[in-house]
Amino acid sequence: MASTGAKAGVLLTAILAAATAAATEALTNPVLGDPSAIAEGRKIYRQRCYICHLSHGGRGPNLFATQLSDEAFLMTVINGRKGAIMPAFGLQMSPDEVWQVHAYVKSTDHYE
Ligand code: HEC
Repeated sequence: MASTGAKAGVLLTAILAAATAAATEALTNPVLGDPSAIAEGRKIYRQRCYICHLSHGGRGPNLFATQLSDEAFLMTVINGRKGAIMPAFGLQMSPDEVWQVHAYVKSTDHYE
C-alpha cells in the first residue's frame, strides 16, 4: 500500500509539473510581429497608455523597454498594480487588445 501511495504521489507530481508547464507556455502573445495587430496596438497605446507612459516613459516606465514576460505584461495591464498608479484595464480591454498593445511596444523602441 505504501508503495502504491508513493507511485501515485510521483504520478501526481508529474501531472502537476506538466500542467504547470502547459499553463506557462499557453500565455505567450499569439500576435507578436503581426502587422495589423501592431497597427491596432499603436492606436490603443495612443488612446489609453500614452498619457502616462509617453513616447518612452513618463509617469509610468518605458514600456518599449519592459523586461516583463508576455504573461506578466498581460496580467499587469488587466489587474493594474495595487498601491501604484498603474490602473487595471480588465473591464475596459479584452486580452486580445492587450496582446495588440504588447505586440506594438515590442515592435519599436518608442511611440512616434
Ligand atoms: C494613470 C497613468 C497610467 C496609465 C493610463 C497607464 N499606466 Fe501603465 N503604469 C503606470 C505606472 C505609474 C506604472 C508603474 C507602476 C509601479 O510603480 O509598479 C505603470 C506600469 C506599467 C507596466 C509594468 C511595466 C514594467 O516593466 O514593470 C505595464 C506593463 C503597463 N504599465 C502597461 C500599461 C498599458 C499597456 C497601458 C495602456 C493600456 C497603461 N499601462 C496605462 C501608469 C499608467
